[in-house]
Amino acid sequence: MYVCICKGVTESDVRKLGQHGIVCPQAIASSLGLTDRKNCCGRCLKKLDEFVALATGEQHAVGCR
Ligand code: FES
Repeated sequence: MYVCICKGVTESDVRKLGQHGIVCPQAIASSLGLTDRKNCCGRCLKKLDEFVALATGEQHAVGCR
């Protein structure tokens, strides 16, 4: 299922980031290119908590700066 239409990001893509230890909101957004305001609508940046939940498998994210 797509979680970002602008970048074509799927739930699986976000879970893969989590498997590589990328679970911080900022790191997830950067890794997925969601900080590229020129080509993104910005809607996803409002749902980063849901991305973190996907990346962590609903576990509490730790180690974010
Ligand atoms: S839907 Fe993800 S940035 Fe637009």
